[in-house]
Amino acid sequence: MKDILSAPFVKEMQSVCSNMYRQGWDERNGGNISYMLDETEVAEYLDINKVIRTIPIGFNASELIGKIFIVTGTGKYFKNVEYDLETNLGIIRIAEDGTTAELLWGYRDGGRFTSELPAHLMSHIVRLKHDPNNRVIMHTHPTYTLAMTHIHELDDKKFTHTIWEMCTECIVVFPDGIGVLPWMVCGNNEIGEATAKKMEEFRLVVWALHGIYGAGKNIDEAFGLIETVEKAAKLYMLIAQMPHINTILDTELKAVAESFGLNYRKDFLNL
Ligand code: 13P
Ligand code: ZN
Repeated sequence: MKDILSAPFVKEMQSVCSNMYRQGWDERNGGNISYMLDETEVAEYLDINKVIRTIPIGFNASELIGKIFIVTGTGKYFKNVEYDLETNLGIIRIAEDGTTAELLWGYRDGGRFTSELPAHLMSHIVRLKHDPNNRVIMHTHPTYTLAMTHIHELDDKKFTHTIWEMCTECIVVFPDGIGVLPWMVCGNNEIGEATAKKMEEFRLVVWALHGIYGAGKNIDEAFGLIETVEKAAKLYMLIAQMPHINTILDTELKAVAESFGLNYRKDFLNL
């Protein structure tokens, strides 16, 4: 059996948590990540028949029965992940009943997965229907994206349009746009259901005055989506109080999208 601490998926979680912390996005225990793993790959590192303990999920995730995820722990600080992987991360499998998680590794101090697991698993279920290769759901608190939700209308079309206008590449990176939820209580099934509903249309979902979710086929894709929104939101906040002399016109956004052959949200442009 190989050393789990050397597993590429553990290393990826380690490096992305440290990176996100250093971006200033994940203060204290802010943020959480779930990453669906390949059972045969996990079996190289763990006895997958050995369940350490079971933890109730709090809803029925029967579409994910048997699926294995590495998930950040609740209350754990991203800044500490690199120093103690086995306490701050856990590997869980959705049990046969669909409502229980089987802990295969981690949460060494008796901890459990993120309080946002409903939003993660419900989003995995939806995104897998759109893209069977989707593996990652990532939640974080990027500074400028949050700032923008204080001063910008919380409407999918208007929010996406403003972000697309900030830099040329945005429409290329997320031609499907950004979904925006109003302020809601976090850490429960209700916000999970609302997030998953937006994930029907979008790989990016902003939680007003809280943070953002990104979905992708790997860590880089989910991170890259969020990073690109955050860059655009930073530009928006930097120029918010200045006269705007130049902008990317909707005809130009259309030209970029068409030149890259993208299936973009045409209804989000005003043409
Ligand atoms: P957890 O510590 O439970 O992951 O919660 C952090 C967070 O960002 C809540 O939205
Ligand atoms: Zn959060």
